[in-house]
Amino acid sequence: MAQFAEIREQGPLPSVQVTDAFTGEDLRFRALTRYSDVVEVSRRPLDFCSGKGSTAIADLQTDAMEFFGSFIVMDDPRHSRQRNIVARSFTPRALQGVLDSVERICSEVIDGFCENGEADLVEVLSQPFPLLVICDMMGIPRSEFPTVLRDTNIILGAGDPDMLGGRDDVMGALLEAGFELAGLMNELAEERRKNPTDDLTSALVHNDLGEDMLAPSELAPFFILLAVAGNDTTRTAISHGMNLLAEYEAQRKTWQADLERLTPGAVEEIVRMASPVVFMRRTTTRPVELAGEHLDEGERLVMFYGAANRDPRVFPDPEHFDIRREPNNHVGFGGPGPHFCLGAHLARREVSVAFRHLLTRLPDIEVTGPPVPLQSLGIPLVGGIKHLPVRFSPTKALAGRR
Ligand code: HEM
Repeated sequence: MAQFAEIREQGPLPSVQVTDAFTGEDLRFRALTRYSDVVEVSRRPLDFCSGKGSTAIADLQTDAMEFFGSFIVMDDPRHSRQRNIVARSFTPRALQGVLDSVERICSEVIDGFCENGEADLVEVLSQPFPLLVICDMMGIPRSEFPTVLRDTNIILGAGDPDMLGGRDDVMGALLEAGFELAGLMNELAEERRKNPTDDLTSALVHNDLGEDMLAPSELAPFFILLAVAGNDTTRTAISHGMNLLAEYEAQRKTWQADLERLTPGAVEEIVRMASPVVFMRRTTTRPVELAGEHLDEGERLVMFYGAANRDPRVFPDPEHFDIRREPNNHVGFGGPGPHFCLGAHLARREVSVAFRHLLTRLPDIEVTGPPVPLQSLGIPLVGGIKHLPVRFSPTKALAGRR
């Protein structure tokens, strides 16, 4: 973050060159580290598009990019058409069942380790919890959970040998993981066409109201997007959040003393400080002016959310974790605009529930060693934590008592 602070003060849009880890090609981009520029670029999709790539700095083949990215790498009208179809299932009302299930899943996950006294928090909570929520939401059977976990870890953690399970052909592992997830989704969709239930997959393959629907070929990429975008991000927020509480003991005490009232603000501050999504890219669609500079058509702009979320012009004392920070209009879920995080409401609920349960059921939980970061090839999309050792007084699982 110190490097970003330096870049931020050099000027609004410094030109940076990196070498692509896959191709060895030199890539040039403008680094956006100021809050106002990230907001401006996010809200002008006609000038700054996502369709040339938003989740990678390199230009990828359109087919491959859309297979892994779905509508996060599209522009209107394709973006809004697909987003609007799935957004019907993401309104607070449509999500109510899922939001309720978050409490139950969190309880179940904590039951799994609360009697042990110590654990790797990533392995026992941050990693399984958000993915179980997504799998249940889609209707993916629990028996397939290990497959989904392995594949999503490969897709976002391919730069870390531990995630590749001994394989060294990163590209092959990525493709295999993507195809396996797509196969799983297509099979489930087929089953739900015949026997609908009340899950999101059934809602996406049945159309009682004559509304537009995702084409079968659009369904698997959407599942990959959800399984990746809605999983590693929340996982990272929970792990970073726990680590922040270890670092800021007074903040933790304050929060723990008034969980009900302070949780919403604490969650926003965790997302600001953690900024789990490191960057999103845009590309200029025509010559434009931004922050007083001229940009040619086709220039890559990389928005660094963690840097924007520490811009001292907007956040006083930005490196300080303050659960009562007000206002806290961070851009951790993206800037305002058509690509703003579709799952922000669900993510907020998941992080809130995780900390409410942890701090109530394991009130003396403490971090016992440094977080182990996920290794990456080049600049990672999500800045994950691979391990976080914790200790707590063992307590009985709740399941037996209900
Ligand atoms: C703390 C957790 C999360 C963070 C920090 C986060 C952050 C983001 C960011 C920065 C974007 C991109 C915005 C842009 O390109 O302008 C995004 C998009 C998206 N997120 Fe999240 N997200 C989180 C959780 C979730 C969850 C739980 C889900 C769903 C289950 C989800 C689904 C999506 C989808 C579908 C998009 C694409 C939206 C579009 O392109 O229209 N996210 N998120």
